[in-house]
Amino acid sequence: MSVVTVRVPAKVNVQLAVGAARPDGFHDLANVFLAVGLYDQVTVTPAHGLRVTCEGPDAAQVPLDRSNLAARAAIALAERHGLTPDVHLHIAKDIPVAGGMAGGSADGAGALLACDALWGTGASREELLEICAELGSDVPFSLIGGAALGIGRGERLTVLETGGTFHWVFAMAGRGLSTPAVFREFDRLTEGLGIPEPVASRELLGALAKGDPDALAAAVSNDLQPAALSLFPELADTLAAGEAAGALTSLVSGSGPTTAFLARDTAAAEKIAQALRTSGTCKSVRTASGPAPGATVVGAS
Ligand code: C5P
Repeated sequence: MSVVTVRVPAKVNVQLAVGAARPDGFHDLANVFLAVGLYDQVTVTPAHGLRVTCEGPDAAQVPLDRSNLAARAAIALAERHGLTPDVHLHIAKDIPVAGGMAGGSADGAGALLACDALWGTGASREELLEICAELGSDVPFSLIGGAALGIGRGERLTVLETGGTFHWVFAMAGRGLSTPAVFREFDRLTEGLGIPEPVASRELLGALAKGDPDALAAAVSNDLQPAALSLFPELADTLAAGEAAGALTSLVSGSGPTTAFLARDTAAAEKIAQALRTSGTCKSVRTASGPAPGATVVGAS
């Protein structure tokens, strides 16, 4: 094999229930992920040493050193199999950077799957998921895609059934938000309050299983939203603009600052997208539906 390309989806969290900070600094979550059809592609080719390149509108914000999750994934797989990570990782980036849509995690999962194919390491699904969990809380979901409930810090996954396609509009903000900063703001805002154990909502899981957008709209929640809004108050204007254009519901995606709007169908999604584009409250707007498949090899030769 001399070149392998893997496509990996973005995610939106339709429920993000956050517990109190743990001794290790992470938070226990009940995290309901839905993969949506916005994709990064990771292409790997043999090289002398490890090299990362990136193309796309946000490419300038992507680190090209060993802190990049794609580089860390290649190193982790090589170490386990006694190889040196002599590979060029090229990321074609369409998922917003630092947007709360798991773009970095997608690149980690993509690089892992691509290097496994390039090097013929033949890692089992379990081994790949184990490496993903070491790389970051959201990386295992990027590998499996679809819909899943993540517990622990979000990495222990149970696949969820979905009874239909959900149509979304995403509004990208003019700047990013740091996930650790949003969790720290959550800690500050909830200090002294009793935080309940995070649990998945039965209504929400039922709505996903039925493919019912109205029931899903009534059940979505994001405990990080007040923290994201506290750090980025202008997001309230974006949420209001999407709601005014007929979104069934609006929410911050994960730790933000991307905002997500659920639409009844593709026509409604287009109308909401158009209204957001002219609202002056966001940098760019995309439509995408979910569930979308997880990391997939789309080219190999
Ligand atoms: O796991 P990941 O590296 O993606 O997490 C990034 C940061 O987000 C962590 O360093 C931590 O500050 C925060 N986090 C958390 N609890 C989680 C997941 C992430 O506090 N369950």
